[in-house]
Amino acid sequence: MFQVNENYAKLPGSYLFATIGRKVKAYQEAHPEKKIIRLGIGDVTQPLAPAIVTAMQEAAGEMGQAETFHGYPDYEGFAFLREAIVAGDYRARGVDIGMDEIFVNDGAKCDSADLGDIFSLRNKVAVCDPVYPVYVDSNALVGRSGDWLNDEGRWSNLIYMPCTAENGFAPEFPQEQPDMIYLCFPNNPTGATVTKDRLQEWVDYARKIGAVIIYDAAYEAYISEPDVPHTIYECEGAKECAIEMRSFSKNAGFTGVRLGFTVVPRELKCGDVSLNQLWLKHQEIKFNGVSYVIQKAGAAVYSPEGRAQTQEQVAYYMNNARVIREGLSAAGYTVSGGVNAPYIWLRTPKGMSSWEFFDYLLETANVVGTPGSGFGPHGEGYLRLTAFGSYENTLAAIERIKKL
Ligand code: MLT
Repeated sequence: MFQVNENYAKLPGSYLFATIGRKVKAYQEAHPEKKIIRLGIGDVTQPLAPAIVTAMQEAAGEMGQAETFHGYPDYEGFAFLREAIVAGDYRARGVDIGMDEIFVNDGAKCDSADLGDIFSLRNKVAVCDPVYPVYVDSNALVGRSGDWLNDEGRWSNLIYMPCTAENGFAPEFPQEQPDMIYLCFPNNPTGATVTKDRLQEWVDYARKIGAVIIYDAAYEAYISEPDVPHTIYECEGAKECAIEMRSFSKNAGFTGVRLGFTVVPRELKCGDVSLNQLWLKHQEIKFNGVSYVIQKAGAAVYSPEGRAQTQEQVAYYMNNARVIREGLSAAGYTVSGGVNAPYIWLRTPKGMSSWEFFDYLLETANVVGTPGSGFGPHGEGYLRLTAFGSYENTLAAIERIKKL
């Protein structure tokens, strides 16, 4: 008799955003007349920039001609895209990353879950609390998170690094020594950031204890303050201890297009074993690359027109972030984030739990947020709002919340 992966049964529920999606769908079905405004999942709403659409159309045309047709793409990604990434995201910032250190993927989510495949199950994992749930759930699926402790709302074998109002939502070094450290800055869900000096301390710490940092920089395009690092490789020694994940979802509106990349530096080794080579093997075995059309779309993001148009979209969303932050502050709410990130982290009023406030907002204002407790125990008492809605909906949502 076959057996299933029993770790799936240990998960306390479904993926956070799937649960919310089902709840909202049920509410909408029960109340078809209500106009729900969705500021829950960080899904973009602006259409693709013209430079990107043109690139996709041209690439589709090439695929229709025998001379320019492409079959399976390279496992690591087409050279034209990796060159654009190296030049646009790294060399432009004085950071030396080689083309062979870039691995193009179909969005950062899969790699943030799959990177665990190249690490031992014996490794001890540290995560921020609250945290993007994929890091936790994917480690749980392979057994690395231990057992779910329902009463405590946490996994038995994870090191949680509390991110609270007191520490500015930026984690301290944990008391217990980790082997793998997941960091995400600008942060999802709190919108917090760390300075370059603080990130350097994390790099120094990881090198000292022999840990690897898995650094999620999906929200890099939203950084507005000068001392916030755009890549972990701005820090000295980071190439020896850090993997970086990037996404086109939020900087170029690719949530429905699917494109991202992971940087695994050559210097990153475990003894003699190169993680770059392990990850290449992983991709060769488990992945067949991203289509030519989509990679061409990605390259167009780095063209002068693509840059200008996508920066305009980022500015549009950050204006929404300002509307949320200022509107809710004026209404007496305690809010943070929304300055270097498209997320606003909101203290729930009147001692409501995260889910109570979620339900209250859905039912009375018809506005969807994401309950902070879904991101970890220290997210309890918070709710996340995203700036990725339309301006009109964002404005309307804040007016509704103000009237409560
Ligand atoms: C989020 O809302 O946190 C993200 O959009 C979810 C995701 O990227 O999977």
